[in-house]
Amino acid sequence: MGSSMRPFMSNHLLLFLLIFHYLNSLSFSTQPLCKDFESFALLQFKQSFAINASASGNPFAYPKILSWKAGERNDCCSWDGVLCDRVTGHVIGLDLSSNYLYGSINSSSSLFHLVHLQMLNLADNYFSYSQIPPSIRYLSNLTYLNLSMSHFSSQIPLEIFELSKLVSLDLGFNPLKLHKPSLKSLVENLTSLKLLYLGDVDISSPVPHILANLSSLTNLDLGGCGLYGEFPTQIFKLPNLQVLFVGYNPNLTGYLPEFHTHSPLQSLILVYTGFSGKLPDSIGNLKSLYELDIGACYFSGLIPTSLGNLTNLINLSLSNNNFGGQIPFSLANLTQLSRLGISYNAFSPQTLTWLGKQTKLTILILEAVNLYGAIPSSLKNMTQLAELSLASNNLTGQIPSWLVNLTHLTSLYLDDNQFTGTDELEIVYLANNKIEGQIPKWIFNMGKETLLFLALDFNLITGFGSFNNTPRVLPWGSLFSLGLDSNKLQGPLPIPPPSIAIYKVRYNTLIGEISPLFCNLRSIELLDLSHNNLSGMLPQCFSKLSEFLLILDLHHNNLHGTLPATYKEGCGLKLMDVSYNQLEGRVPRSLSNCKMLDIFLLGNNRFSDIFPPWLGKLPMLRALSLRSNGFQGAIGKPESILEFPKLQIIDVSCNNFTGKLPSEYFQIWNSMKVSNASNLTYMKVILRTSSANFNFEASVDYSIVMTNKGIQTEYEKIQGFLIAIDLSSNRFEGEISEVIGNLKGLHSLNLSNNILRGCIPSSLGNLMELESLDLSQNKLSGEIPQQLLLLTFLAIFNVSNNHLTGPIPQGQQFSTFPNGSYLGNTELCGIPLTKKCKIHEPLTQPQPNSKQDEVVIMMGYGSGLIIGLVIGQNLTIRKLEWVFKNLRRQ
Ligand SMILES: *[C@@H]1O[C@H](CO)[C@@H](O)[C@H](O)[C@H]1NC(C)=O
Ligand SMILES: *[C@@H]1O[C@H](CO)[C@@H](O)[C@H](O)[C@H]1NC(C)=O
Ligand SMILES: *[C@@H]1O[C@H](CO)[C@@H](O)[C@H](O)[C@H]1NC(C)=O
Ligand SMILES: *[C@@H]1O[C@H](CO)[C@@H](O)[C@H](O)[C@H]1NC(C)=O
Ligand SMILES: *[C@@H]1O[C@H](CO)[C@@H](O)[C@H](O)[C@H]1NC(C)=O
Ligand SMILES: *[C@@H]1O[C@H](CO)[C@@H](O)[C@H](O)[C@H]1NC(C)=O
Ligand SMILES: *[C@@H]1O[C@H](CO)[C@@H](O)[C@H](O)[C@H]1NC(C)=O
Ligand SMILES: *[C@@H]1O[C@H](CO)[C@@H](O)[C@H](O)[C@H]1NC(C)=O
Ligand SMILES: *[C@@H]1O[C@H](CO)[C@@H](O)[C@H](O)[C@H]1NC(C)=O
Repeated sequence: MGSSMRPFMSNHLLLFLLIFHYLNSLSFSTQPLCKDFESFALLQFKQSFAINASASGNPFAYPKILSWKAGERNDCCSWDGVLCDRVTGHVIGLDLSSNYLYGSINSSSSLFHLVHLQMLNLADNYFSYSQIPPSIRYLSNLTYLNLSMSHFSSQIPLEIFELSKLVSLDLGFNPLKLHKPSLKSLVENLTSLKLLYLGDVDISSPVPHILANLSSLTNLDLGGCGLYGEFPTQIFKLPNLQVLFVGYNPNLTGYLPEFHTHSPLQSLILVYTGFSGKLPDSIGNLKSLYELDIGACYFSGLIPTSLGNLTNLINLSLSNNNFGGQIPFSLANLTQLSRLGISYNAFSPQTLTWLGKQTKLTILILEAVNLYGAIPSSLKNMTQLAELSLASNNLTGQIPSWLVNLTHLTSLYLDDNQFTGTDELEIVYLANNKIEGQIPKWIFNMGKETLLFLALDFNLITGFGSFNNTPRVLPWGSLFSLGLDSNKLQGPLPIPPPSIAIYKVRYNTLIGEISPLFCNLRSIELLDLSHNNLSGMLPQCFSKLSEFLLILDLHHNNLHGTLPATYKEGCGLKLMDVSYNQLEGRVPRSLSNCKMLDIFLLGNNRFSDIFPPWLGKLPMLRALSLRSNGFQGAIGKPESILEFPKLQIIDVSCNNFTGKLPSEYFQIWNSMKVSNASNLTYMKVILRTSSANFNFEASVDYSIVMTNKGIQTEYEKIQGFLIAIDLSSNRFEGEISEVIGNLKGLHSLNLSNNILRGCIPSSLGNLMELESLDLSQNKLSGEIPQQLLLLTFLAIFNVSNNHLTGPIPQGQQFSTFPNGSYLGNTELCGIPLTKKCKIHEPLTQPQPNSKQDEVVIMMGYGSGLIIGLVIGQNLTIRKLEWVFKNLRRQ
């Protein structure tokens, strides 16, 4: 495995930043002004580029060059990224790395007028594959030059070698060539170099021996340069060399020398080269080494015990070589390791006795190393593991259940071993993957008696194998939670076993009827079949489930017929959502037995009924929607002032309700009279279940379809503080009573499209939380009360198509409402209408609400069910394969 990171520019970037910072701090007090010709050159340089975010791959990139402006005194020394000499005022440093520069540089660029430059960093921009301009020679005082990752191309010009003061040179990760002149001439001329980075530059030559003369060299990156021939061993012995990267040169051969103590080597990367021979015992002398990657080479012999002396090692890869014998027990001492790969060697059969203390490991790859025995329990201690592979060994026994406790694990490969029986399996969590197509038949054989929890949500699964369009009865006898949300399931609804408590298949394309077999589910607490294409009638026995069910969500299907009629006392339903179906008939009176009902949504069906007066007696009811049905008649009056004690949301819009607005209800809806804007939780229900080994807790957010701020939206979550009334599109008549001003917690009030007369009550000015007020399409008259100026959260205001007269209130939120808010009222005047008011009476403006800045926007996207027990996300298909493969071998 090639787990090593390329040592990008960390070291010399750091050096640069330190120098930069140091000079900057010196130049702070008596900074002379920058020279006009230099600020002019800088501005010209700026002008020669477009700024384009695609020019950088760095998430922290930022076009600081945009802040450069020809100010009053053009003091470029104060510009971001520009450094001046504190005595002369000349520009000596320029850092425009990751600046979104997009365009080419040629030899006439004003950049080359900045002849005093000592440091130049243009890394990570987009210079359109232009050549490095030969004029670079004019910057003869450069000590630091970084042009890496900047889309330069062609041969590196000879002129760069005239920059004899260079200490740090980075031209890496550009499609550049270093042929003529060659690497050899570079080394001959730039003798002061400490840091040389030419990663991915096309060199295509042997490594010149003379490189071993660069005695100051600390960092050398010649990775992926097409090097060949034998690597000069003397280079390993450069007295200051800390980082040596010559990996990814498959035609480069070489041997490791004997290493002496006091070698400063910290990072040695030879991955994917032709290096061969033995790993010398003296490797144990490299006490500073924290990274050793010799993967995919041709090393052989034993892995020396002395490797265990390199206790600073963080990354170690010995994979894909020809090492034999046993992995030495001394590796037990490498407790700082974060990544370890020893796969694919010629080891003799062994166990992992040396594994256990390396508790910082995040990646552990031990494929094909001839392991036998059980998966070692010492892995339990490696709680940071994100990737673990023990594939292609001779491991036996069962896949241990404690693997679920490695909670960081995202990839686990155990395929190609000799594992036996897995009836122990209780939890399979494979949500958020890319599992496609049919689930293979044999998955039904896994954990038949033991499986408790199966999560396959957010995949691309189309079905459970062919079964002639009859609903598949799922086989897992102990299963209590099955998640299949957001897949591509087709065909009839699979029938869960009687043990099921949580069953979710929302957002699929299931068709057909809901089988009466569902009525046999005696443990079911959550049934979410929403957003499918289910049709037919609900089985009448369905109401039996209400003894057990807490959540019944069937919205967005194609169900017909009436709601089952017999809900018994003890009905525990908290949420019932059957909206967006074709249901008809009356609302069963027996639902009044469901005293726990919290959210009750019947919208967008064909119910025809009067307003069910018993709803008010449901003590927990918070949200009620009857919208878009055939409800009719007057809403009437409450029988007691104690009705609807918790109601926050009521939507009866788009029905045939008649008579007066239900002002008597406005008087008793007490929970709408207070604002609890500090309640930032969502409306939800907590489900708790336990099995012999696990306690499950699921938090389910309620969702609702609502018209908010003029737009119909499905909210996956409902804010705990949301308070809303929608009585629009009915045939309510009469006046709007002043009592509506008591409902001080209201966020949204919609009375549009009725036959309301009289004035807009000034008490609406008390509804300080109001964000949306729609009174359009009525027969309202009189003036718009100035008190509405107090509504500082108001974002939507519509009084169009009424008979309103007089001046529109001016200022505050009213300066934001468009013409359309007022259309169809011929007697209204003032801004934004073109009709001017005749008399300008001085209007006293009410004091604005001081809370204006505190608007809290808490609409999120719901994740639905969250189980407090997650093995890991983004498992690869390979993991799925091992699960299936190994679980199959019973
Ligand atoms: C280059 O550096 C030398 C020595 O520090 C200095 O004398 C000379 O003025 C510098 N040249 C420029 C163009 O800054
Ligand atoms: C490079 O060095 C050689 C020999 O040291 C010298 O002849 C040549 O002029 C130098 N080239 C440049 C571009 O400075
Ligand atoms: C390695 O050498 C072979 C044979 O000379 C050549 O075909 C191949 O392109 C070389 N590979 C690289 C990466 O230089
Ligand atoms: C490891 O280091 C210790 C002390 O530095 C030394 O005594 C020992 O010989 C070394 N072990 C090996 C195997 O090199
Ligand atoms: C691990 O290190 C300790 C202390 O340095 C040493 O005594 C021991 O021999 C080492 N173990 C192995 C297996 O090398
Ligand atoms: C795992 O950690 C426990 C507690 O820290 C320790 O007692 C045990 O020895 C460790 N296991 C191994 C194999 O190192
Ligand atoms: C596994 O062990 C069996 C015998 O127990 C042996 O035949 C086989 O070669 C081994 N396989 C591997 C991959 O080591
Ligand atoms: C997972 O860890 C918990 C807490 O340490 C422990 O109670 C439980 O038994 C472990 N699960 C398994 C399967 O080992
Ligand atoms: C509403 O009532 C009117 C008059 O009774 C009737 O014509 C109309 O069909 C009803 N509309 C609905 C949607 O029920």
